[in-house]
Amino acid sequence: MKILVIHGPNLNLLGTREPEHYGSLTLSEIDTYIRNRASELGMDAECIQSNSETAIVERIQSSDFDALIINPAAYTHTSVAIRDAISAVGKPTVEVHLSNIHKREEFRRHSYIAAVAVGQISGLGPQGYLLALEAVKSILEGSEAAG
Ligand code: DQA
Repeated sequence: MKILVIHGPNLNLLGTREPEHYGSLTLSEIDTYIRNRASELGMDAECIQSNSETAIVERIQSSDFDALIINPAAYTHTSVAIRDAISAVGKPTVEVHLSNIHKREEFRRHSYIAAVAVGQISGLGPQGYLLALEAVKSILEGSEAAG
């Protein structure tokens, strides 16, 4: 099972970027946790980060993965293009946010991605990615608990 993990714009700055919202781990540390947990679950995780909406759309369109875990970052709130790419490839997708987008500014409460995702994990910090891995494993194995 190949899981593509996409981190959107500005998440390359994790570690120093607004730690009160996003914590103090760097993206590379988070990616190590993701890859290790995926391997424990018998899955292969490829983690990429991009500040470019075009690059994210093109990577999703490649469709060379079984499930997608995406933190679209600011594009969550703006990108019909990323939403349409996810919808077009039809792979199970879990949306992850480090911070709880529902208890921050009003503009963060709307996600263009949520309607094409199986579910959303928001506010649990890096652990959200690890829970998302467990969720996609259940989904790909067809577990009834996956919802
Ligand atoms: C974020 C929340 C978004 O509103 C914000 O633009 C981000 C990060 C999060 O992980 O909490 O860049 O997706």
